Amino acid sequence: MNLAVIGSGGREHAICYKIKQSPKIKKLICIPGNAGTQKIAENVKEDISNFDAIYEVIKKKNIDLVIIGPEQPLVDGLVDYLNEKKVRVFGPSKFSSQLEGSKAFMKNLCKKNNIPTANFGVFDNFADVSNFIKKNKTPIVVKADGLAAGKGVSICKSKKDALNDARLILEGKFKSSNRVVLEEFLEGEELSYFVIVDENSYHFFGSAQDHKRVGEGDTGPNTGGMGAYSPAPLLTKKLEEKIKKKIIEPTLKSMKDLGHPYKGFLYAGLIINNEEPYLIEYNIRMGDPECQVIMMRLKTDLLDIIDLATKNKISNLKIEWTKKNSITIVLCAKGYPSNYIKNSEIKNLPNILTDKNNQIFHAGTYKKNNKTYSNGGRVLNITSLSKNLTDARNKSLSNINKINWKDGFFRKDIGWRAINNK
Ligand code: AMP
Ligand code: GLY
Repeated sequence: MNLAVIGSGGREHAICYKIKQSPKIKKLICIPGNAGTQKIAENVKEDISNFDAIYEVIKKKNIDLVIIGPEQPLVDGLVDYLNEKKVRVFGPSKFSSQLEGSKAFMKNLCKKNNIPTANFGVFDNFADVSNFIKKNKTPIVVKADGLAAGKGVSICKSKKDALNDARLILEGKFKSSNRVVLEEFLEGEELSYFVIVDENSYHFFGSAQDHKRVGEGDTGPNTGGMGAYSPAPLLTKKLEEKIKKKIIEPTLKSMKDLGHPYKGFLYAGLIINNEEPYLIEYNIRMGDPECQVIMMRLKTDLLDIIDLATKNKISNLKIEWTKKNSITIVLCAKGYPSNYIKNSEIKNLPNILTDKNNQIFHAGTYKKNNKTYSNGGRVLNITSLSKNLTDARNKSLSNINKINWKDGFFRKDIGWRAINNK
């Protein structure tokens, strides 16, 4: 089979890595890819917001199946576009992608179906915002309704800050939407829960915990994710039953009732409080860096899984996972998540051992004259699989310390909650 993966992050490199292991893969291309995908797939440089150009590549390269990694093309309707052109594609439609693309859509769906989530209001004017903030206690969580590349959420300790942040969103700080969602603040530990969904059924597709803050001890500004580990020790059998019954199943049923059955990966961002799950957000894709740790643990052929999902036949499938623990530490460019250094050479990468227990998934990298350079905030994902999390982290740290890159930084404490609780 000839397959195209769309995207250029660590998530897409990890997907290519797994797909490449399938005996059924003939040709693998990545649009546009990075220096890591280039080693295992053919990178095709193309602007992924240009759907016509993507279609031309797919036709020219005789692609049988397309996997879309990031949220933006999904929210913009790439699945609908390719379906119209009769291209087989794995991912949610534009309508279904509102689960991530509009927090107001997601919150209203929760309200209608009694899905546990933080109390909230959706507003498009300052008077109503001000009224809600006056009536509720702090902290108040202020969110932009639309996609905001991880920058649309602020947790405000004072009412003054909440008013200010909400005003900026109403005034058009984010292009995707001027609406504001205000939420009560939920205490608890975060958990990422994944499922793969077709029109007839769904399967568990891994659990993980990530670290969003830039600094050690989970301090400082939010990022796309500084590291992750899988499985999530927080996820007990009892908790998983609650997540399925109270959150996943009512959501999938509701999408079906709306006439838009969900298809694709679905990522529930949860807060767990007193063993009760609350939905914080939906993402309509695999997480990044969660995908990297989940792919290390997947034993079943990913190409088979995706192939069956696009045919609505995943109920026939048993998806198997290793019991081992996996961790990824993200090596970032200095300055991230603000302005960061670009086009800086990363040395010694080829000398680091990679095997089925140790992988370096690339994100913001490119190759020039046989040298590797950075061109993003999150640059490399140093990923390890081992019998326990402490061991896995030690392996990742040992590999990261072999990389010779003066402009990089990383967190040494990924997995601290799970490791300290042992
Ligand atoms: P979101 O983009 O909605 O996932 O929000 C980003 C991050 O903000 C989450 O991963 C949480 O750490 C935090 N967050 C969002 N909503 C809430 C809430 N209602 N209560 C507590 N923390 C929240
Ligand atoms: N790691 C968080 C995300 O992928 O949205």
